[in-house]
Amino acid sequence: MTGRIAEICACLTPAHVFADVGCDHGYMTRYMLKNNLCERAYISDISAGSLEKARTLLNAEVEAGRCIPVVADGLDGIKEPCDLVLIAGLGGEETVKILSRVPLPKRFVLQPMKNTDKLRAFLIERGAKILCDYTFEDGKFYDLIVGEGEGGDRYSDFEIKYGRDNLRSPSAAFCRFLAAEQGKLRARLARREVRGESRDEMRAKLYELEVITDAIEATL
Ligand SMILES: C[S@@+](CC[C@H](N)C(=O)[O-])C[C@H]1O[C@@H](n2cnc3c(N)ncnc32)[C@H](O)[C@@H]1O
Repeated sequence: MTGRIAEICACLTPAHVFADVGCDHGYMTRYMLKNNLCERAYISDISAGSLEKARTLLNAEVEAGRCIPVVADGLDGIKEPCDLVLIAGLGGEETVKILSRVPLPKRFVLQPMKNTDKLRAFLIERGAKILCDYTFEDGKFYDLIVGEGEGGDRYSDFEIKYGRDNLRSPSAAFCRFLAAEQGKLRARLARREVRGESRDEMRAKLYELEVITDAIEATL
């Protein structure tokens, strides 16, 4: 199990019906079933080939009826409410599209690969309560959001952009993320890179990251 998968599994809590959307290999569902954390689990993937990997891994549980494979876009093929939904390894915009078509699940664990700010804004707009929202590191940096579909929450613009726990109780991983992003921007500015953002945009971003770093250091 990779560090990323272990980090995600540590956020999975007991449920009646669990759904692993974009399951691919199915390792997170195996964790749920082997640890008796759910009564039944749906493994869903838009790609039949990817789903087959999870189906093979979980063959005994599929045969026993505890695990139900579904080839579908998001939660579209799952015909009962799932009280815990995992969507990991997909883009933030794709995750928003999937969740836009259904009532928000009672509890969700989301690990978007990019555009996490768009996902945060969507969740807050839809009335979710966010329980955890932080960056961790496993070779690369990843965002992880755990929340509940109801309860409501308020986020500042900076929290939408960077993640609430990262700003309120910054981890060593988030500090390394800030340092890495600043390093990349300084290198691009030094190379006089012209593709993508303008130099002014890069400078503004660098300044913002420096301000956040200074604020964190001031509280240490
Ligand atoms: C990078 S893998 C992530 C696998 C696993 N969830 C993880 O975090 O390690 C992304 C998987 O999501 C599937 N996928 C992409 N878009 C999807 C969608 N809209 N609905 C269901 N599955 C999707 C892909 O086919 C692929 O198997």
